[in-house]
Amino acid sequence: MRALITGGGGQLASDLQTLLGDQATSFSRGELDIADTAAVDRAFADVAPDVVFNCAAFHNLDVCEVEADRAWEVNVRAVRDLASRGAKLVHLSTNYVFDGRAERPYGEDDLPSPRSIYALTKLAGEHAALAYGDGALVVRAAGLYGTHGSASKGGNFVERMRTRALEQGWLKMVADQRLQPTFTADLAAALVDAVERGAAGTVHLTAEGACSWLEFTEAIMELAGIDVAVEPVTTTVQPGQPDRPLNGVLARPAADALGLPRLRPWREQLADYLSQTAPVAR
Ligand SMILES: NC(=O)c1ccc[n+]([C@@H]2O[C@H](COP(=O)([O-])OP(=O)(O)OC[C@H]3O[C@@H](n4cnc5c(N)ncnc54)[C@H](OP(=O)(O)O)[C@@H]3O)[C@@H](O)[C@H]2O)c1
Repeated sequence: MRALITGGGGQLASDLQTLLGDQATSFSRGELDIADTAAVDRAFADVAPDVVFNCAAFHNLDVCEVEADRAWEVNVRAVRDLASRGAKLVHLSTNYVFDGRAERPYGEDDLPSPRSIYALTKLAGEHAALAYGDGALVVRAAGLYGTHGSASKGGNFVERMRTRALEQGWLKMVADQRLQPTFTADLAAALVDAVERGAAGTVHLTAEGACSWLEFTEAIMELAGIDVAVEPVTTTVQPGQPDRPLNGVLARPAADALGLPRLRPWREQLADYLSQTAPVAR
């Protein structure tokens, strides 16, 4: 495989680059803005990829609301451009394409109902990838954290909680939003495996099991050996603020039908992540 990775400064892209080594060339946003067609021309000419992992995204939920044009440019128009160039496109999308009001996990074929500019653009980006990319693979992920951290979100959730707990000595966290927190190292391996198996279409690839953000935070504290109480709170959405799905849990009938292996349970992934990262100084 000769792979081109976009969004190279990010957490998923970093783990993909580590996994693929010499088989991949990764470009950070400074090296390749995917919305800059001439820069994309140059990168494709340099790498001549068989496969493109599009890990670049404009994905800070609140910023997308106020910079909607940029969200459409990066999350939709640029995806069509990447899809149209003949290489297989692996495009990352999100559980946020669903409104989270269902009682059960969402399968790949459930009807999306995005509730924010970010989610709207990610859904449109899925269509751009599938419509313009021959054999494109759209992978909906959720709750990503990785050793590299996401700069646009101020690092990853695990590190933010570890730091906040040690600084404040207490935490509060929503108990009514559910997700499948997923370690990017596991997702990166699943993406490469899916490509090697020739998977195409839309699949859900997330950690097994599910928890609330409260339970995830409690597990981080327990596994990191930090003794702080986590106060449960209920989600409130201010008028004009973007909605986060309460039920963000994904089922994976399409991924199963393609024979893609299941990822490890979320708690096992978290323990592995914590074993690889230095504890925050106390
Ligand atoms: N994080 C999550 O919980 C989550 C959940 C579901 C799906 N996803 C999706 O998974 C993918 C990877 O997420 P991640 O957590 O690895 O994100 P990340 O760590 O924030 O990485 C995204 C990267 O994209 C870069 N980028 C932004 N605009 C760009 C542009 N125009 N051209 C090139 N690069 C650009 C960012 O650079 P700067 O930092 O310099 O802006 C950043 O390095 C994204 O498609 C995201 O929508 C993420």
